[in-house]
Amino acid sequence: MKVGMLTSGGDCQSLNATMRGVAKALYRMYDQDVEIIGFEDGYKGLIYGDYRVMKPSDFSGILTEGGTIIGTSRQPFKQMRTPDKNGLDKVEAMKRTYKKLKLECLVVLGGNGSQKTANLLREEGLNIVSLPKTIDNDLWGTEMTFGFQSAVNVATNAIDCIHTTAASHGRVFIVEVMGHKVGSLTLHAGIAGGADIILIPEIPYDINIVVDALKERNRMGKRFSILAVAEGAISKEDAKLSKKELKEKKKNGVVYPSVAYELGAKIEELSGQEVRVTVPGHMQRGGEPCPYDRVLSTRLGAYAATLIRDKIYGYMVCVKNGEIDKTPLGEVAGKLKTVDPECAMIKEAKLIGICFGDE
Ligand code: F6P
Repeated sequence: MKVGMLTSGGDCQSLNATMRGVAKALYRMYDQDVEIIGFEDGYKGLIYGDYRVMKPSDFSGILTEGGTIIGTSRQPFKQMRTPDKNGLDKVEAMKRTYKKLKLECLVVLGGNGSQKTANLLREEGLNIVSLPKTIDNDLWGTEMTFGFQSAVNVATNAIDCIHTTAASHGRVFIVEVMGHKVGSLTLHAGIAGGADIILIPEIPYDINIVVDALKERNRMGKRFSILAVAEGAISKEDAKLSKKELKEKKKNGVVYPSVAYELGAKIEELSGQEVRVTVPGHMQRGGEPCPYDRVLSTRLGAYAATLIRDKIYGYMVCVKNGEIDKTPLGEVAGKLKTVDPECAMIKEAKLIGICFGDE
């Protein structure tokens, strides 16, 4: 039996641990009589027929290794139906590779866009089992994605490091956390790191409320303040604009490297306080998976193998009510799991005085 496997989209710390879980369980179930084909650099490998026949030894010693042993790339879902520069129909090419290799199924480890393409391939008749990868934890249909907790650790560690220097100098520090559309990572790392102000895309902020919160801390005799700000944090004002209007506004204004720098400049202007910006960036996707992710990945991977054994296709393996389960891919594709501004975690964070820039 032949099983194809690919990792797609932005990487994360626990991709190898997840592939290991799938592979180890499959090799045991089929008494080593299974061939795993690893497509190189995600869907690109499937489109252009670039693959490696994996050996059981390839999956040994990778539980703690970040990144992905088969490589990944971003192949936007939107462009899947657009022929490549040589006129190649990508969807047909993927189907051809799958059929030529006589695959029983394709295992896809990916985030939102990758799940959409996985669903497209399911609709085209391919046997698909997918696994929920992303540091953003923004996949619909699962309570948890692998990679998220490891990224929370890195982002929290960044805030912890900033704490001591912020305290020494009595400065305002902004730590920009990954997450363009969803603020889960910022919310968790912000609370874990003891941030005073947390700004996420789901709760547009009022700059005056942010500045007032900083002034209030000064009045209380606090020498420093830390803001955990998501890449996609947005002001109330900008949230009212259409995409086009926002683009226009940005074009005509000062160009900042990222949202944290823009916010920092505004805070300095309105409060007169010295602001420093730290952007941990892709460090948040690097390093080894944390123990939580190693366990989660192993469980998700082993469960995926049982779906293959039982020929249950068209599902994404997920976490439901704290247990490993499956969700139909058709229900996952195209939906985003965002942070509910009214959720208990935010209410509790507000109770201890964390400001979200909204009240
Ligand atoms: O989707 C994961 C993620 O790390 C986001 O949090 C971030 O906004 C984006 O990917 C960065 O993408 P890239 O690695 O392509 O710069």
